[in-house]
Amino acid sequence: MFDRSKKGERALLLQPHWVGENDPTALEEFVELTRSAGATVVGTLSARIERPNPKFFIGTGKAAELAEQRIALDADLILVNHSLSPVQERNLEKLTECRVVDRTGLILDIFSQRARSHEGKLQVELAQLKHIATRLVRGWTHLDSQRGGAIGNRGPGETQLEMDRRLLAERVLQLSRRLDKVQVQREQARRSRVRNSVPLVALVGYTNAGKSTLFNTLTGAGVYAADQLFATLDPTLRRIEGLASGTFVLADTVGFIRDLPHDLIAAFKSTLAETRDADLLLHVVDASDPEHHSRMVEVENVLKEIGADDVPQVIIYNKLDRLPERKPHLEWTDGGTTPRVWMSAASGDGLEFLREAITRSLMRERVHHWLHVPAQSGRLRARLFELGLVASEKAEDAGWAMEIDAPRAMLEQLYGLPNGDGAWLKRELLAVPDAAAYNSTATPP
Ligand code: GTP
Repeated sequence: MFDRSKKGERALLLQPHWVGENDPTALEEFVELTRSAGATVVGTLSARIERPNPKFFIGTGKAAELAEQRIALDADLILVNHSLSPVQERNLEKLTECRVVDRTGLILDIFSQRARSHEGKLQVELAQLKHIATRLVRGWTHLDSQRGGAIGNRGPGETQLEMDRRLLAERVLQLSRRLDKVQVQREQARRSRVRNSVPLVALVGYTNAGKSTLFNTLTGAGVYAADQLFATLDPTLRRIEGLASGTFVLADTVGFIRDLPHDLIAAFKSTLAETRDADLLLHVVDASDPEHHSRMVEVENVLKEIGADDVPQVIIYNKLDRLPERKPHLEWTDGGTTPRVWMSAASGDGLEFLREAITRSLMRERVHHWLHVPAQSGRLRARLFELGLVASEKAEDAGWAMEIDAPRAMLEQLYGLPNGDGAWLKRELLAVPDAAAYNSTATPP
């Protein structure tokens, strides 16, 4: 039993097929997820579902077949690619005399293995406890012989089973409090970033698209990249310097996946907050994946769900080394607003196009301009200094020539200044075309 656990559990997969729907990639992805969790797939079974059976989710006949298969294949774990109610899970476990884990449980297990930051670990534990709480009533005696299993039992699972619900509720409360504290700290870090007006660029993309690899290529940092789904769970932040648009912070984020259970989206909200607050998203796509179009749509859906769909994007078609007929290049689509880069994060081919796309996209959001501030606008001048938006200044006869280098949004906040200062600034800046005014060797006219 324990030997086997070390080598990974032997999993029998059940893939539901809804009548009228046929997605051949669903099983493939499920197999991939199972491997990510460290289990070995010993067999797969598909089940036609017209209407879910309240007792087993699948039909009674199929449930019996599942029990037979699990004995024949000597599986010690059954994974179902759908969420199950606690009752359905328990009934299937009783019938098959085997541990049954649903899609949410499986994803939670992968998350618990991958979480690295303090916050990530807390979030996963909290989500796992909530998932377990609904299942705690069942009593586990019917599975005593199976206790050694790992998937779905990792993290708080094993010890939690011995606890009563009161303890569980206390732990949930304690974790929530701790998480609130971590989130306050994160918010403070975010505020100080905004104050320093360093733009935030976040990598997003379907899991396994190559985000961590690109993060490493861009930063030269040794962030963990592996051919497993969800190799990244927590955003990792790095400062990047040396682009004409100035310093920015790059965040690596969790890989997106279709049908991410809703309670998980909630649990990872603050992890994904980095994405919502970003000035620019680098949407990494595995161009060698035949399913990449539908995966892009999945990513867009999650972005919409977390309120990040209006953040400007650079689309990166990655893994071009696997498509020898395509050459690295940069293209501007959607009327010149959305850059698309074809490149390879692993080899670094085409990285210069990505740098150009990032630079130009960030500059669009920034103003670099010489303002001739009249002598009577001393208050405006003071505010510009206070906010740290002034790169340099020269005295002029009628006031000051001030070199402004700042996010457009921060300058827009000053449009409300009294005594005509705000209105004056607005007029001046509206005359500055986006980015075009930016010139790294700008000199006072
Ligand atoms: P998650 O953490 O699961 O979201 O994945 P990720 O998007 O961060 O992907 P990661 O960087 O871990 O890469 C996934 C796999 O793709 C790894 O095996 C990488 O080596 C591989 N990979 C990434 N970029 C390229 C590329 O340009 N070409 C090739 N051939 N493989 C790549």
